[in-house]
Amino acid sequence: MKLTRYYAFLLATGIAFLTAGCQSQDEIKRQKYITEGILIYQNTCANCHQPDGKGLEALYPPLAGSDYLAKQDSVIHLIRYGMQGPVQVNGKRYNRVMPPNPQLSDLEIAELTTYIYDRWGNDPTLIDVARVKGVLKAGTP
Ligand code: HEC
Repeated sequence: MKLTRYYAFLLATGIAFLTAGCQSQDEIKRQKYITEGILIYQNTCANCHQPDGKGLEALYPPLAGSDYLAKQDSVIHLIRYGMQGPVQVNGKRYNRVMPPNPQLSDLEIAELTTYIYDRWGNDPTLIDVARVKGVLKAGTP
């Protein structure tokens, strides 16, 4: 009986240790994505949406605190394919053209999206390449 409890204890700590190990691997990957994401954002998006993500007047909608971020599939899709036509962001109407970004790889979109949701979407999860591929393959959300 005592021995069984000892093995149960060993098993539990083993599982806890392994799980913690996995989480920190994911976290290391996420931090790497964010570091790359910042650069991609600065080079590709900040001109319009501004370095602080607050957008520009009635021209460019904000990413910071944007209620549109709830539609993560659409966000992934519009980064690659652009966007046009009227859209409501935080109750304000925008109607301009966002150019597509065919030069960004699936990995770069994953890095960029991970960064955007970490910084402005209050969502510290890793958005990986498989997720981006899945959304883009599914077509227009
Ligand atoms: C040339 C200016 C321009 C650039 C560069 C640009 N956008 Fe946009 N973006 C816009 C406009 C304009 C809209 C609104 C389009 C509409 O009216 O339908 C928009 C909409 C969005 C939206 C949905 C609305 C919101 O604010 O939440 C997201 C998310 C977004 N852009 C992210 C990005 C990201 C990420 C990049 C960099 C890859 C980027 N944009 C680059 C102009 C731009």
